[in-house]
Amino acid sequence: MNTATTRAASVALPALPYEQSALQPVISANTLGFHYGKHHKTYVDTLNKLIADTEFEGMPLDQIVKATANRPERVEIFNNAGQAWNHNFYWRSMKPNGGGEPPAALKRLVEASFGSADACKKELSKAAVGQFGSGWAWLVQEGEKLKVVKTANANSPLAQGARPLLTIDVWEHAYYLDYQNRRVDYVNAVLDKLVNWGFAAENLAGND
Ligand code: FE2
Repeated sequence: MNTATTRAASVALPALPYEQSALQPVISANTLGFHYGKHHKTYVDTLNKLIADTEFEGMPLDQIVKATANRPERVEIFNNAGQAWNHNFYWRSMKPNGGGEPPAALKRLVEASFGSADACKKELSKAAVGQFGSGWAWLVQEGEKLKVVKTANANSPLAQGARPLLTIDVWEHAYYLDYQNRRVDYVNAVLDKLVNWGFAAENLAGND
């Protein structure tokens, strides 16, 4: 093998952090199989084709997102890099038997920012249900404050310099096989039964 032609490492599709059936009955194995194995994989494969032999080849995924944000001539790379990163983050924002109360350090911030964990969940639900068309709802940290924001399509708070703590995918491919048009039922079931507060706590500033 001629090492001179060896390519820099491409962007990887990380393994799911649980079995495809692990989020049932909230998210079926069928939905998870298509979502991860087709949609997410396609974003990663397309991204790797688009960045081959460019300045972005070999760059960490989050850096590609930041480097291509708000650059119209790089929108195709941004969209696929954003979707690859957002899905990596989404899978880890959920876990089997999730929900419940946030860990203490996060709970203090949640209560200071929203009043209670329930109020925080209501804000997240409102943003997720209210996102017009495809996109994402996020819990983010800005200094000592937590906020809920929503983004369209492949956008993320990462591209805007904010610190994401967790996310919910509200593209139709995330829920349509299981819930059809009832996005609100999908969102509330994720928040009640799957949300991974421990992951959100790990993402707080100072835990890098
Ligand atoms: Fe998705």
